[in-house]
Amino acid sequence: MIIPEIEFTLKDGRTAVIRSPREEDIPGMLEYLYLSAGETEFVLRYQEECGKYTPEAEKALFDRVNGSENEAMPVCLVEGRLVGVCNVGWSTGLKTRHRASVAIAILRDYWNLGIGTRMMGELIRIAEENEHILQMELDFVEGNARARALYEKMGFRITGVKPDAIRLKDGTLLNEYAMIKKLHSPRPTAETNT
Ligand SMILES: CC(C)(COP(=O)(O)OP(=O)(O)OC[C@H]1O[C@@H](n2cnc3c(N)ncnc32)[C@H](O)[C@@H]1OP(=O)(O)O)[C@@H](O)C(=O)NCCC(=O)NCCS
Repeated sequence: MIIPEIEFTLKDGRTAVIRSPREEDIPGMLEYLYLSAGETEFVLRYQEECGKYTPEAEKALFDRVNGSENEAMPVCLVEGRLVGVCNVGWSTGLKTRHRASVAIAILRDYWNLGIGTRMMGELIRIAEENEHILQMELDFVEGNARARALYEKMGFRITGVKPDAIRLKDGTLLNEYAMIKKLHSPRPTAETNT
């Protein structure tokens, strides 16, 4: 899905752009994937696992997502640099098409500038435009207070915990928390059939 381009002002006064990824973004995307993997434990990959990200794989990903009707991957650029990526996607199956999954990560130098808020707002707008989507879902890793604060501000609430879902290289085990944001008006729940 291609999203309309949005320009906005960061908390430090610079201008940022959110738009769908383009072929010219491939080098920036590869740099972003590598850097973000090394900056925080809250991204689910280590830098040594980034070898699978090649220009060809990114081109195929951009083409697939931009051409998809049930997935979008807005990127954020500041002064021409790709600094953040988020995505929203949902199944087309009748029993699960009411659930959209979202994810987001921004380079550390660009945290706390309002980019996360703006990108999450865009993901919510995309989901709200789909009449079938009733809830948005995400997970965050134990200790990620910044992400939790952002998600709660945007209307997500914790619904569950997956104990020891993440294992770091030093053996540390971390819980993962599931969050859901409800959209639209709740529909009637079907009678339970046994
Ligand atoms: C989590 C993340 C997406 C947030 O994006 P961001 O651009 O920094 O978010 P914003 O600047 O829009 O908002 C951050 C909010 O958290 C608040 N915040 C910052 N640090 C905080 C902390 N330690 N505890 C609680 N709240 C905090 C800020 O005050 C701000 O709230 P406000 O707008 O009401 O003032 C970003 O930090 C990131 O990419 N982190 C690394 C990857 C990651 O953790 N991704 C999420 C995986 S689930």
